[in-house]
Amino acid sequence: PRRIFSGIQPTGQIHLGNYLGAIAQWVKLQENNEDMILSIVDLHSITLPQDPKTLSKNILEMAATLLACGIDPSKVILFQQSMVPAHTHLSWCLGCICTMPRLAHLPAYKEKSANLKDIPLGLFVYPVLQAADILAYKATHVPVGEDQAQHIQLTQDLARMFNNRFGETFPTPHCIFPGSDFARLRSLRDPAKKMSKSDPDPKSRICLIDPPDEIVKKIKKSVTDFTSEVTYDPENRPGVANLISIHSFVTGKTVSQICDEAKNLNTGQYKLQVADAVVSHVAPIQKKISDLLHNQDFLLQVLESGAEKATEISEATLQEVKDKLGLQFKR
Ligand code: TYM
Repeated sequence: PRRIFSGIQPTGQIHLGNYLGAIAQWVKLQENNEDMILSIVDLHSITLPQDPKTLSKNILEMAATLLACGIDPSKVILFQQSMVPAHTHLSWCLGCICTMPRLAHLPAYKEKSANLKDIPLGLFVYPVLQAADILAYKATHVPVGEDQAQHIQLTQDLARMFNNRFGETFPTPHCIFPGSDFARLRSLRDPAKKMSKSDPDPKSRICLIDPPDEIVKKIKKSVTDFTSEVTYDPENRPGVANLISIHSFVTGKTVSQICDEAKNLNTGQYKLQVADAVVSHVAPIQKKISDLLHNQDFLLQVLESGAEKATEISEATLQEVKDKLGLQFKR
């Protein structure tokens, strides 16, 4: 049977890349009644400096956002990573079989450490903690955007290495990527880059809680090209293709339907249509987020009951791991 695990960092605001690439997939999988566990990975966030007050606020905001997007805590386990001790414990055990060169060439690490004078150890071992997240639940599938592929590959390697050394313990987890361009939504300022929360230019991304006029402005200013027709050609016209992908997601229309309907529009006019569609899609989500944020007790309750269930599963794995490593005595 499948077991699905995925995580998201509670840093800053969720953008359309996270939403289309990850959260929307999770909601779909949830509707298929999959066995699914979702974590707000706060311990991953502190691998870079965080203001404590802002971080607390962001954790609750992430919980509210996931619920507003349709995650239903009665169908899936939703919890805050640091509330479940097995993650860090298993991470240590896996760290002891992982080599440093294996981590040093991972692109996410290279990217994030490039501008740092002093690199925190946590940033370096970040992917080991991610492997522990997944393996603590013996997950078989991990729905993520394309940028996470190497991290899941490391998880597969660590699972195999552990199994080889200590006996069959972990299944090999596989990525689930969303269809079409959603797996790698692009920056609105530079379609060669992915939409990312660490991009210094806020105009490069649309956040779920951006006010409508802000969304319109960002889409109007998005970088496309010098052709005025609306055609879908991700290779040669990545900027326009990115807008079409977003448009297709928020309207549920197919790419060819969209291009057909935009036959008589230039890209400038088309951008306004996309902006309108995005604004109407996110309006009800924004309303739900703000309602939920007024009910902090409820959000904490959801996270606590999720942590209880997650602890039960992950502790069992941890006991097995400790046993296999020779750390556990039976009396
Ligand atoms: P994070 O928090 O950066 O991103 C959360 C999810 O959003 C996806 N994503 C995108 N998808 C498409 N286009 C984009 N432009 C885009 N930007 C982000 C990411 O691929 C991700 O699925 N290391 C992870 C969090 C994590 C995790 C885990 C994930 C920790 N433990 C275990 C899966 C399983 C991260 O930083 O995601």
